[in-house]
Amino acid sequence: MKVTVSLIKADIGGWVGHSVVHPKQEELARKKLQEAKETGLLIDYYVYHAGDDLQLLMTHTKGVENPEIHKLAWDTFLEVTNKVSKVLKLYGAGQDLLSDTFSGNIRGMGPGVAEMEFEERKSEPIIAFSADKTEPGAWNIKLYKIFADPFNTAGLVIDPSMHSGFEFEIMDVIEHKVVKLSAPEELYDILALIGTPGRYVIRAVYRKSDGEIAAAASVTRLSLIAGKYVGKDDPVLLVRAQHGFPAVGEVLDAFAFPHIVAGWMRGSHHGPLMPVGLKDAKCTRFDGPPRVVALGFQLSEGKLIGPNDLFDDPAFDLTRQKANEIADILRLHGPFMPHRLGPDEMEYTTLPGVLQKLQDRFKKVE
Ligand code: F6R
Ligand code: MG
Ligand code: MG
Repeated sequence: MKVTVSLIKADIGGWVGHSVVHPKQEELARKKLQEAKETGLLIDYYVYHAGDDLQLLMTHTKGVENPEIHKLAWDTFLEVTNKVSKVLKLYGAGQDLLSDTFSGNIRGMGPGVAEMEFEERKSEPIIAFSADKTEPGAWNIKLYKIFADPFNTAGLVIDPSMHSGFEFEIMDVIEHKVVKLSAPEELYDILALIGTPGRYVIRAVYRKSDGEIAAAASVTRLSLIAGKYVGKDDPVLLVRAQHGFPAVGEVLDAFAFPHIVAGWMRGSHHGPLMPVGLKDAKCTRFDGPPRVVALGFQLSEGKLIGPNDLFDDPAFDLTRQKANEIADILRLHGPFMPHRLGPDEMEYTTLPGVLQKLQDRFKKVE
């Protein structure tokens, strides 16, 4: 059976400030998706949050980029904005809904989308990752480790079905171009690009032996759509696991190192990406630190058997402790780089407005 998994998310108002989604927002979203399940549009769904981003995980048979599914997500975000976010005066109600009218595809309209369609295997474990207070390029180092680094993924060396490697589809989000590069042959070329996560973002990963989709990520950059600062893009990622793909534990191990990402306070600071369970998926200190949740599901004829809240585990305690130590060290830098992002990245924040005011005060050096 061919099944499509669609993970679509948006920040449509925070409780309190940019901390977390309000339970009533999730409640209404669940009601909308339940209705869609009853009409047969969806096979199944799971509604959750990562920080202030409302996450709609849906399964169906309509394929990727399907207008009915995208409209369902759009209408859900709109209704939750109007009936909950605005009524409760949640912070930034409807923030990510950048357009007034739906035009058939939710991509480019604000919400983030990760989707993949595949033939459901005899057993199909998938993991949905959702991060808050960071950008899509945050997945680059994780996807590299999962699908190209044998020090992370033992199966790349040991398992014949993975031994030929994976193909990475990398998007240049500035020039709006895409390139496919092959690991392990082109590892250094891949790294030459994805080491700049603000520009080159891994959009999908395919298994080379048969072209099967292995992972799909959101690549939305709101500021590039809106032309101004509208928050970071708080990305989502879907990964298939086991039996010819990296094992669940290999996928998760990439998150044991809390690498430093762009985002955090005002989308303008570097901070560690901290893996947390759902109960801790809320942003607090300095609007962060940036967080990521991992929900595991077994698919059964498209039904989502789960979630298994995978980072809700003492095995990630040390990662969290390290993340908090890194957060402390970075915070000591206050408004200085490299805690604050560099000038290129600050272009789409409120800083240029401040610098503008100083323009006339500069005098020529004699
Ligand atoms: C980061 C984010 C927050 C806000 C910050 C200031 O993505 O959304 O850190 O940037 O709370 O928000 P305003 O300017 O709305 O007071
Ligand atoms: Mg927000
Ligand atoms: Mg957010």
